[in-house]
Amino acid sequence: MKTAVVFFSLTGNTWKVADMLKVGDTDLVRLKRRSSLLSMLGLGLKPKFDPHKYDLIVIGCPVWGGSPAKPFMAALRRMDFAGRQVNIYLTYGQNQDKALKMVADEVKRRNGQPGRTMAFEMSKPLSETEVRKLLSF
Ligand SMILES: Cc1cc2nc3c(=O)[nH]c(=O)nc-3n(C[C@H](O)[C@H](O)[C@H](O)COP(=O)(O)O)c2cc1C
Repeated sequence: MKTAVVFFSLTGNTWKVADMLKVGDTDLVRLKRRSSLLSMLGLGLKPKFDPHKYDLIVIGCPVWGGSPAKPFMAALRRMDFAGRQVNIYLTYGQNQDKALKMVADEVKRRNGQPGRTMAFEMSKPLSETEVRKLLSF
């Protein structure tokens, strides 16, 4: 089974979780920031992956101001998941309230099927067993 983990990370936490998912046939796709001019034009992050190559897609982003990080959402709005199951994770400080639902709703609009959803509070230790549940249907 081939899996893509598509994530955005500013300070490394969401990346750390993505690294824990790097087992088996898994590709990590890190969405990188581009210049501020391109960001202003809504082209801040380039989602460069082909959903057809994968059986399962995992997406991850940090919570900013109670919502999914804006650069990630902008990139998500330019993706097409081609009917694949999309498991979702967030990393956050204290509170992720409605952020998971916001990502799941956008995944549906982008032709994906939201599957497992998980949110990791960064003040607590990460469990590899828990994190790796994201790799299953
Ligand atoms: C600009 C900014 C805003 C944030 N706002 C929130 C917030 O509203 N709620 C929360 O729980 N954590 C918040 N955090 C903490 C991040 O969600 C948390 O540290 C996350 O794991 C960062 O992921 P990253 O290291 O992959 O960038 C914020 C962090 C930043 C940088």
